[in-house]
Amino acid sequence: MITYRKSLEGITPEMLTGFFVGWPNPPTPSVHLRLLRDSAYRILAFDEDACRVVGFITAISDGVLTAFIPLLEVLPEYQGRGIGRSLVKQILAELSHLYSVDLVCDENLRPYYERFGLIPVRGMARRNYAAQSGTINED
Ligand SMILES: CC(C)(COP(=O)(O)OP(=O)(O)OC[C@H]1O[C@@H](n2cnc3c(N)ncnc32)[C@H](O)[C@@H]1OP(=O)(O)O)[C@@H](O)C(=O)NCCC(=O)NCCS
Repeated sequence: MITYRKSLEGITPEMLTGFFVGWPNPPTPSVHLRLLRDSAYRILAFDEDACRVVGFITAISDGVLTAFIPLLEVLPEYQGRGIGRSLVKQILAELSHLYSVDLVCDENLRPYYERFGLIPVRGMARRNYAAQSGTINED
C-alpha cells in the first residue's frame, strides 16, 4: 500500500535508494534526506510493505509570493500508477495561497504538467554539474 507523508520522522537514508535515475553526479541517499529536510515543502510516497520511499516532490518558497518545485521523481518500477499525479496535486494544493509556482521540465513533460493547469513560460538557468551531488555544500 502506498501512503503519502509530509513528515520525515522515521525516514532513513536506506529508505531513499534508487532515485536520481540518469543523473551523472547524483546526491547520495543521506544528501537526499538532507535536501528533503531543508525544503520548505516535501511530500513522500511510501510503500508500506517494502518500507521504502518510492516517490517524492519538493518545493522551496519565500512564503509570501513564490514557490519553486525543483524535484519530482517516482522510482521506475512504481511509475504509471498515479503516484506522480498525486504528489503534484498535493503540493499544488499546499501552495495554493501563493502567487506563483514555477518548475522547469523537458518539453516532453509539458502535457503532463498542463493537466494540472500549469502554463508554459520562458526561463533561464545555470547548471553546475560539479555541484550536482550536493556534497560540496555539506555542513
Ligand atoms: C514524471 C514522473 C514523476 C511521473 O510519475 P508517475 O507516477 O509515473 O506519473 P503518473 O502515474 O501520475 O502519470 C503517468 C502519466 O505521465 C506520463 N509520463 C510519465 N513520464 C513522462 C515523460 N517523461 N514524458 C512524458 N510523459 C510522461 C505517462 O505517459 C502517463 O500518461 P497517461 O496518464 O496518459 O498514461 C515520473 O515519470 C518520473 O519520476 N520521471 C523521472 C523524473 C522526472 O522526469 N521528473 C520530472 C522532473 S520535471
